[in-house]
Amino acid sequence: MGPGDAGDPAVDDVEVIRVGGDARLAGTVHVVGAKNSALKLMAAALLAPGRTVITNVPRITDIAIMGEVLRRLGCLVRFEADDPVDPMVGHGGQARSRSVVIDVPEQPGADADYDLVRRLRASICVLGPLLARRGYVRVAHPGGDAIGSRGLDMHIAGLARMGADVSGEHGFVIAAAPDGLRGAEIMLDFPSVGATENLVMAAVLARGVTVIDNAAREPEIVDLCTMLNRMGARISGCGSSTLRIAGVPALHPVRHATVGDRIVAGTWAFGAAMTRGDVTVTGIDPACLEVALDKLVSAGALVETRGDAFRVRADDRPTAVDVVTLPYPGFATDLLPMAIGLAAVSDGASLITENIFDGRFMFANEMTRLGADIKTDGHHAVVRGRDRLSGAPVRATDIRAGAGLIIAGLCADGVTEVSHVHHVDRGYPDFVADLRALGVKVERGTAPEAPELTI
Ligand code: EPU
Repeated sequence: MGPGDAGDPAVDDVEVIRVGGDARLAGTVHVVGAKNSALKLMAAALLAPGRTVITNVPRITDIAIMGEVLRRLGCLVRFEADDPVDPMVGHGGQARSRSVVIDVPEQPGADADYDLVRRLRASICVLGPLLARRGYVRVAHPGGDAIGSRGLDMHIAGLARMGADVSGEHGFVIAAAPDGLRGAEIMLDFPSVGATENLVMAAVLARGVTVIDNAAREPEIVDLCTMLNRMGARISGCGSSTLRIAGVPALHPVRHATVGDRIVAGTWAFGAAMTRGDVTVTGIDPACLEVALDKLVSAGALVETRGDAFRVRADDRPTAVDVVTLPYPGFATDLLPMAIGLAAVSDGASLITENIFDGRFMFANEMTRLGADIKTDGHHAVVRGRDRLSGAPVRATDIRAGAGLIIAGLCADGVTEVSHVHHVDRGYPDFVADLRALGVKVERGTAPEAPELTI
């Protein structure tokens, strides 16, 4: 029987990362700009005709796709070497950050199609700026994904409040405000990161004052508001749950450096505690990881902070701690897979509660393939720690689950092979080189894709 015949389903290769177990992370790692900031800063460039330059942008797939989204909207987008150059270059691999130069036309396009939006859910953040600039926008609805249902109702209700006529048709969100947007009082049901960003970017060019209550307070939102204010916007209350935005007639382009990635930094922090390692992380204000670092202290790690750096050292097996994810400044949902990994090797039982995404525990089944003892019930998981996990082939289902599985593999006997690591490439620039710089035996390769089970 030949390939493609019945009984021999065609297989494609997938990208895998293999890590050796019984590893200990030790050394210094530098984190570059945050994915979830840089993506929105790139969208914000649409608000001003002319040349915007954003530096410290991570070299990851999602940023490349966002560049493509902007090109399709008529922008010229070019990536350049960063200045200063990422200090990890000397540790192997290529620069993890670069600068993006975006030339925005007087009249950008107003359509973002499904072929790009489905590859990058964050493309939805062009909705606000394009509506503000063009008075009309049509963006594909991204739908749900591996971590949950991901609604858009708050984006839509807020824009409608500002006078837009918003409808859904053939899988698109269509918004029109031919006479421009007007300031409005908006109370979000939940401090949604994406809704806050879209509404701020719409409000900066609206007539009058917009007040967003129960706004998200993430450092990436502060970064966006800082750049917008430097472009001439009038936003006050940045970093608080009430944002007041006085609309202005036009904005001008600027040069702006992306804030450091607290989730990448947090990944290394958990990795250090789980492997009884000693890791110094630079390029990040430790204050934006306060709750996460405090959990590691409760788990028995020693944490030192100084300026734009912190160090996590652990000599003993972690003690079990409970974790509850919440909007910032609470424990970040994007660190949930790392919290489960920590719990899986801790002494005792941990109760982990996820409050942001309804599908975030989906990856727990992969963690149990590594021997983790996890019982989930709705948005809670009880994890009973084991002294050691057991290396196995597992599958990354999203960016953070992929990173969490790789870090968990460091605490296993034998080799762990994580497949579908294109997810990890979406959020972690050169994860393999960083692991190697921290002393891990790691390789990247391909493996045949196992056919999906049909029942
Ligand atoms: N939600 C609604 N309606 C809305 C908006 C949100 O029901 O109109 C719900 C979502 O379905 C979700 C929750 O509210 O259950 C939180 O969504 P939020 O809008 O806050 O998140 P997001 O903007 O879609 C960003 C990050 C995520 C990160 C979350 C929470 C980007 C590109 N993505 O998503 O990052 O987990 O905020 O902090 O900024 C990742 O980087 O791996 C990632 C998933």
